[in-house]
Amino acid sequence: MNQAPRLASTREELAALLADGRRAGERVALVPTMGALHEGHASLMRTARAATAGPVVVSVFVNPMQFSPTEDLDRYPRTLDADRGVCADEGVDVVFAPAVDEVYPGGFSHDGPAGVTVDPGRLGTVLEGESRPGHFAGVLTVVAKLFGLVRPDLAVFGEKDYQQLVLIRRMVADLCLGIEVVAGETVREADGLALSSRNRYLDDDGRRVAGTLSRALRAAQERASYGVPAARWAAMSVLKGEPGLDLDYLALTGPDLGEPPETGEGRVLVAARVGSTRLIDNMPLTLSTADTPTGGPTTTERSS
Ligand code: PAF
Repeated sequence: MNQAPRLASTREELAALLADGRRAGERVALVPTMGALHEGHASLMRTARAATAGPVVVSVFVNPMQFSPTEDLDRYPRTLDADRGVCADEGVDVVFAPAVDEVYPGGFSHDGPAGVTVDPGRLGTVLEGESRPGHFAGVLTVVAKLFGLVRPDLAVFGEKDYQQLVLIRRMVADLCLGIEVVAGETVREADGLALSSRNRYLDDDGRRVAGTLSRALRAAQERASYGVPAARWAAMSVLKGEPGLDLDYLALTGPDLGEPPETGEGRVLVAARVGSTRLIDNMPLTLSTADTPTGGPTTTERSS
């Protein structure tokens, strides 16, 4: 059995736990999370563990800055004891679970944090950023802080939050942070539903409805060889067939979330509400231009 990871709640405790590894020149890996850990997180930890013989740090911090006042900050699950168990099973060395004041020492109010924040730029205002204004400023600010606190050599993020992954890669490149960003594949249930901490909000019927999202993405993948309109039409047919789903957007893009290429690698992304639970998912697809059977002119479809 693996040893229980050491717990750090303050900057000083974290620095002390990492000091030996740093002195020995070991590569430090970070897996940032908001807790409520599941098999998707465990798989990111395994990726981190495989990438270094040095310390693997998992941060557990429900970041208030990435929630709008109307979102689920208060009801977001907080399960630190269980989370430590998951980390122990995956050979994690340190769990960093700071309080809000530790991460935002200048204070945090409904207006946001006092002090400097990170602006995600235009990419932070589309897709998730359009539906959740300010969300990516919150994500990038806390990730930059975690990078500063942990000073990792590499950090692992899931493809499940694809726009987040693209923005973090950009932040690291644009701000010259010198950290290797490693992507972890989305882990799915047997019916294709992407694992998410928010899945626990779904009742049995919601759980059934939620399976529609991955079916729609697969339909887009299957039609991608006929081009973007056909892939989108295929996904929309699946989504429209499920009345329990309140679609926010379906988008086809390039891998960097720009315009999709006519041929080559692209991405299909979806966001929808099932009852009061908002779910997102995405998959890669390979586009080409075989004769298109059907489709419309746009690449992003929004419900409102
Ligand atoms: O993906 C998440 O869980 C969060 O957005 C992250 C990266 C830990 C920042 O709070």
